[in-house]
Amino acid sequence: MTAMDQITSTATNPAQATPLLSVRELSKRYGSHIGCTDISFDLYPGEVMGIVGESGSGKSTLLNCMAGHIAPDTGQVIFETRADGPRDTVTMSEPERRMLGRTDWAFVHQHARDGLRMGVSAGGNVGERLMAVGARHYGDIRAQATDWLDRVEIDPARIDDRPTTFSGGMQQRLQIARNLVTGPRLVFMDEPTGGLDVSVQARLLDLVRGLVRDMGLSAIIVTHDLAVVRLLADRLMVMKSGRVVEAGLTDQVLDDPQHAYSQLLVSSVLQV
Ligand SMILES: Nc1ncnc2c1ncn2[C@@H]1O[C@H](COP(=O)(O)OP(=O)(O)OP(=O)(O)O)[C@@H](O)[C@H]1O
Ligand SMILES: [Mg+2]
Repeated sequence: MTAMDQITSTATNPAQATPLLSVRELSKRYGSHIGCTDISFDLYPGEVMGIVGESGSGKSTLLNCMAGHIAPDTGQVIFETRADGPRDTVTMSEPERRMLGRTDWAFVHQHARDGLRMGVSAGGNVGERLMAVGARHYGDIRAQATDWLDRVEIDPARIDDRPTTFSGGMQQRLQIARNLVTGPRLVFMDEPTGGLDVSVQARLLDLVRGLVRDMGLSAIIVTHDLAVVRLLADRLMVMKSGRVVEAGLTDQVLDDPQHAYSQLLVSSVLQV
């Protein structure tokens, strides 16, 4: 099987459902420097895709191009919208893309401060997302915020506290609550456990895994950490120098890597 066959493998979607997201020949350069190049894959409803690779391999560039934070130079990012079916989000209007970012898409940043409003209370951070999609009733918003703090294991008694008074792990869980409260279908995550203590990481990963399963979310998770993809990702893409060098089912790639670089990546982790 070629890498491309593996990328488009239907092994994890026996029902042959319509892809939720189809990325086609996506490329982004920074001047003469390659950010990412010629990336194509499909993501199916409920599927979690992991993206791994060394620092500078283009993981964040790819993620930000897909999420509409960076305009790619070429390529398509086709999302199966609820209202209009498949739409290329690269060419859709900015207001439409922003609306997607508030409703069907979520983005969890590595640093919680990039995804939270640090001067606003925890409840406000969650409620703001609801208000952005039209919620107006204060009691309902507060009730949903309370419920979500509880779901991410933050004591609802902290609802009026600012995230500046939270630990790193709590901030990250608050960022997840803020992102998931509107019931998105696709979550982008860039190193969601980076910079956290190992014990805190494990708890966060468990939480994310539970939420992904319970909500039937699709997710694309960028990480350095092969343990993170082992736990969360159905499929895996290995990037090097802006390209996908290997892709396939997570267990297959990690247990029997085919490309020399994937072999190096897996063996270097095992030696640690
Ligand atoms: N704003 C920018 N301007 C110029 N070059 C950039 C910019 N952002 C990224 N690059 C370059 O593009 C390449 C890919 O970077 P990217 O941040 O996507 O990698 P990454 O895999 O996310 O790395 P890390 O694991 O360190 O976060 C790198 O060579 C990087 O130097
Ligand atoms: Mg990065």
